[in-house]
Amino acid sequence: MFAALCRRSRSPSLRATQLTLRTQSMDRIHIRGCNPLNGRLPISGAKNAALTLLPCALLTDEPVTLRNLPRLADVDSFGHLLNQLGVSTMIEGARPEDFGRVMTLRAGRVTSTEAPYDIVRKMRASILVLGPLLARAGEARVSLPGGCAIGNRPIDLHLKALEAFGAVIEISAGYVRASAPDGGLPGGMFTFPVVSVGATENALMAAVLAKGTCILENAAREPEIVDLCRLLVAMGADIEGIGSDKLTIYGRDRLHGATYSVMPDRIEAGSYACAAAITGGSLELAGANADDMHAILAALRDAGVDVQETKGGIIVSSDGKLKPLTLSTAPFPAFPTDMQAQFMAMLTKADGASVLTETIFENRYMHVPELTRMGADIGVNGRTAVVRGVDRLVGAPVMATDLRASMSLILAGLAAEGETQVNRVYHLDRGYERLEEKLSAVGADIERVSDG
Ligand code: EPZ
Repeated sequence: MFAALCRRSRSPSLRATQLTLRTQSMDRIHIRGCNPLNGRLPISGAKNAALTLLPCALLTDEPVTLRNLPRLADVDSFGHLLNQLGVSTMIEGARPEDFGRVMTLRAGRVTSTEAPYDIVRKMRASILVLGPLLARAGEARVSLPGGCAIGNRPIDLHLKALEAFGAVIEISAGYVRASAPDGGLPGGMFTFPVVSVGATENALMAAVLAKGTCILENAAREPEIVDLCRLLVAMGADIEGIGSDKLTIYGRDRLHGATYSVMPDRIEAGSYACAAAITGGSLELAGANADDMHAILAALRDAGVDVQETKGGIIVSSDGKLKPLTLSTAPFPAFPTDMQAQFMAMLTKADGASVLTETIFENRYMHVPELTRMGADIGVNGRTAVVRGVDRLVGAPVMATDLRASMSLILAGLAAEGETQVNRVYHLDRGYERLEEKLSAVGADIERVSDG
């Protein structure tokens, strides 16, 4: 399997990265806690923006260059998928010490319109080739992604939006096949019954090359959607309402290439802000954009954390005394579901009881039993978790289950007495670029140990 990966990916550095990332799956991270974290921590490009910007390369035969691309497993997996569709991907010389990379993608000709099961099952975001393939090639056959650790995560809204724009959708043998009547989507209007980030992204990428006008209502407003719209406009798309929940896309005959820099990762920044808070330190989150993080920063301030917005980023400081919170996750601009696990870890040390409600995903409390093993006092009832603050957490071997749950275990380990071992580190490598390097540079006693 890995040999096959090497054959297909065109850029040597992508091959090397895939080799590294594959061996990392046996790695674990050891942390010896109670060090306050202090210093400057660089924030990387946003994973959830990168994963919707990459497939935009399919929308033109000209080169698309993405800067500030985070060095992450999912970004490499997406590059491999695009290679299989005929997209060349060249990573321009990033020095090993640099964070982020520059990747130039070119879909001179789309040689395949199929995203196979063996790729989609490992990375759900692969579903985001559906819209651009339909727009560029008039058809797409993508494996249904299936569920994941945090929920069953259907794609019905992706398909309903595309149908509303005139696509013909068939589902058979675990695949969805989408086709555009005589090669181009006529256009139409769709109102989302539930806000969906991925469905909004797929619909946007399908609409930009439609024959007519496409309108989305109750569209997602996450900053990653705005980043996508900005790249599409840079490629020549005509989109009205960017940043609002009503998007109007006037279809164009073709798009051209562009160079674009990925937005900073607001969830990575929020995660490291929690690290400063739980260890009683002060971190400068270099490159973070406060405009994308109002709900996260407001919650930190409510917990008694000092947050200073600066020209270069955000400075987050704490004396380690944290106030309990009542938080409910919801679509942007509300408090993001991707920060729930990290705040839960932070609030295990608060002075009082916090109440967290997860309204987006049905199974996003898998970090609770692991945090409990470290001495946290957490009770879960359906979608609501009550977190009673404790004086101390104690390091233990714990198991990562999904990306953000893994980060919550890292955060607890940073504050715990003794050593914590976080197993199944590959979950973290999907969303946090060089985590142990960034944390040890600001005082964490942390190391990656390979079983490979
Ligand atoms: C994106 O996932 C993010 N992933 C997730 O981040 C994030 O948690 C989520 O948006 C919500 O903000 C990427 O961007 C790659 P949704 P997505 O469609 O698009 C339901 C992380 O940790 N729904 O907004 O899959 C769905 O079940 C990841 O970085 C349908 O019912 O999320 C969920 O309850 C995890 N039908 C809700 O909508 C659909 O067709 C929101 O899902 C689609 C979604």
